[in-house]
This record gives sequence, structure tokens and C-alpha cells, in this order.
Amino acid sequence: MGISGARQGTCSLPDPELRARVAACYAGARPFARGYVRHKLRLDPVHAALLELAGPRGFGEVLDLGCGRGQTGVLLLLAGAARRVHGIERNRAWLAEANAAAAPLGFVATLADLATMPALPPADTVLLIDVLYQFETPAQIALLGAAAAAARRRVVIRSMDATAGLRGALTRFGETALRHLWPGSRRRINPLPITRLTSAFAAAGWTITVTSCAAAMAPANMLIVAERTGAAATALL
Ligand SMILES: C[S@@+](CC[C@H](N)C(=O)[O-])C[C@H]1O[C@@H](n2cnc3c(N)ncnc32)[C@H](O)[C@@H]1O
Repeated sequence: MGISGARQGTCSLPDPELRARVAACYAGARPFARGYVRHKLRLDPVHAALLELAGPRGFGEVLDLGCGRGQTGVLLLLAGAARRVHGIERNRAWLAEANAAAAPLGFVATLADLATMPALPPADTVLLIDVLYQFETPAQIALLGAAAAAARRRVVIRSMDATAGLRGALTRFGETALRHLWPGSRRRINPLPITRLTSAFAAAGWTITVTSCAAAMAPANMLIVAERTGAAATALL
């Protein structure tokens, strides 16, 4: 497993025109949702990291698990980095906001609890951004297996490295604070060690990279990219 350079401080979405185009898709949403999307795009390094990862080839068909309000899918579609995005989300109001913003772009919305889905629909790229740590440990392992089985090319995960000393403690503290601020937004904060998340992929021969994808409020956030290579391209986890 390669752990490459940090992204911290370089990765808020730098293109103001693209940020404005994503925000414009939420023009009909509630003021809180509009503000949330604007700030999220400006402050969270994950968006630029995903666009960089998608590269000129793009992500193809994307399955965005726990898509929330769907701003990541909107961004990928507007940037031409995804052909289609299927978002699965258990929060009915957030999914409705995602659907209203993104359906005209090719976004498909499914209201479902990922903890009760035995299998996931296939996609080229499966995203699990800030979702896994909200599940109990066996459910995280099951969801990783389902994501791997669904992914034709890659699985992209962001989770926090809770073993990262002070950075890990600060990130966990921030997530716990958000949980209290927005009851219902996070059921639990249960980050597994990054190696626990990558081990099944590694054992199945996938190529794994782990990079820092940190922001000031979440300094231990890591981006894990697991890609099928060689024999793993046909052998599912
Ligand atoms: C921290 S938010 C991240 C949202 C989105 N991935 C993003 O990057 O903006 C976590 C999301 O996962 C969703 N989620 C958590 N547990 C879920 C479950 N069991 N089934 C479906 N969605 C779930 C939450 O409702 C929330 O929208």
C-alpha cells in the first residue's frame, strides 16, 4: 500500500466559476442547504481531490453511497468527470434536495438504508465519502464488501485516521460536535483503523493509495483509493 503526499491546504475547489455553477443548481433549495453547499465546496478539500483523481478519463458511472445533498455528484457531472451518478441516501429531505439539484444532469436518487442493502447496483466508481465511520464495525466491513463487489474500477473512501494522535483526536472531536449540532446527521462516530479498511482490498490484489485529505477542522481525514488491477479486475472481494 502506498501512502503518498498530503493534500492539506491545497484542495478546496479552486475554480470559482465551477463552484458557482454547482451552487446555482441549488438555487431552489432552502437557504440552509444553499449555504451548506457553498461553504462545503469552498472549504472541503475532497472535491478538488476527486476531480484530480477522475482525471481526463473520468469516473464513468458513479455510485455515491450516503450522498447527502448530492453536491459531489453535481460537481462531477458538471465537470464532465462522471457520466451518470446514482446517489443512495437514507435522509429523505437531503435526498430530495440532491434530486432537485441534480436530476436534470443525470443523477438518479434512491432512498435506502445502506445497512440493510445486501447488494449494491454496479458502477465504475463507488464513493464512500465520510460515511463508513457512522456504521457499527461489522456493518462497515459488510458495506466495504458490497462496494467492492459493485465497483468495476475503483472504490474511493474518505475516513478519518483515528490512530493519528492529536490530529485523530481533533477530527473525532469535530465529528462528535457536528453530531450534537445536527442530531440525525451522524448515528455514531466509529472510525476503524485505515489498514482495517484497506486489508480486504489488498488481500484481493487491488492497488491501494492513501493520501491525506485534511481540512483545518478534520486534520486526520484520509482519502483511500482502491483500484482493480490485473486479476483483481475479475475477482471480486
Ligand atoms: C457526513 S455525511 C456525508 C455526505 C456526503 N457523502 C458528502 O460527502 O457530502 C454522511 C451521509 O451518510 C448518510 N448515511 C449515514 N448512514 C447511512 C445509511 N445507513 N444509509 C444511507 N445513508 C446513510 C447520512 O444521512 C449523510 O447524508
